[in-house]
Amino acid sequence: IHDKDGLPKIILTEPTGSSAEVLLYGGQVISWKNERREELLFMSSKAFWKPPKAIRGGIPVCFPQFGNLGSLEQHGFARNRMWSLDNDPSPLPPANNQSSVDLVLKSTEEDLKTSPRGFELRLRICLSAGKLTLIPRVRNVDSKSFSFTFALRNYLSVSDISEVRVEGLETLDYLDNLMRKERFTEQADAITFDGEMDRVYLSTPTKIAIIDHEKKRTFELRKDGMPDSVVWNPWDKKAKAMPDLGDEDYKTMLCVDSAAIETPIILKPFEEWKGRQELSTVSSSYCSGQ
Ligand code: BG6
Repeated sequence: IHDKDGLPKIILTEPTGSSAEVLLYGGQVISWKNERREELLFMSSKAFWKPPKAIRGGIPVCFPQFGNLGSLEQHGFARNRMWSLDNDPSPLPPANNQSSVDLVLKSTEEDLKTSPRGFELRLRICLSAGKLTLIPRVRNVDSKSFSFTFALRNYLSVSDISEVRVEGLETLDYLDNLMRKERFTEQADAITFDGEMDRVYLSTPTKIAIIDHEKKRTFELRKDGMPDSVVWNPWDKKAKAMPDLGDEDYKTMLCVDSAAIETPIILKPFEEWKGRQELSTVSSSYCSGQ
């Protein structure tokens, strides 16, 4: 564990040379580099690195509320709290050449007054060659049922947002946050970007591809237990209005999230929910040769 701006940080490495950095603050992955030491996640040039602000970039955890759908602060409180190393993690299946860390956020006395009351939120982060896997779990440790919405917000680093294509969301229904959350059906063959986008795609397939032409890199997002996927880019005007985002930063970022939003997850006392996402990269030439 190292320190960055006073924030405790864990560094994961694996034999081919890729690495990931994780903060206890927010349980947030803030860096993932491939074996050529190229950064794969976006981090804002103007990110605030001070609690209680959330950090603009990496993979923030949105819990127990995505967006402003409930009474809590936007995207919930998990991204603004100090997590701990989990001393009681579930067993890790044996795997070669993989490094991992288990984090936990437990409800405070104060949380017991409001839903979701007593909870334990765990996050396992595993790094292996070319792949970053995140496994979130939420356990109800209360005597009452509760419900929550959830997202792993993946800020992906792209070379030029105007050249990016997202495949796997065509023909799906989505809720458009820019149109009062109205429901639409996607008509395009692939999602491309020429302005602000803020959509919750519903019941998506387990695999989504984010194709970054210029860098000839394709991200593959595979997910379980998180049926929805948010696609967000603030574009120029909104970027300018955000104090923790550089004016030009919107060109090199794209959020494609793994989420459970439309149907909140309901947990009875002592029940546990588990999700999983795998982010991997393949070069475009490999893809087109399939
Ligand atoms: C999106 C919201 O999901 O997240 C936007 O629909 C919001 O309204 C964006 O601007 C980023 O949210 P935040 O809280 O990280 O600034």
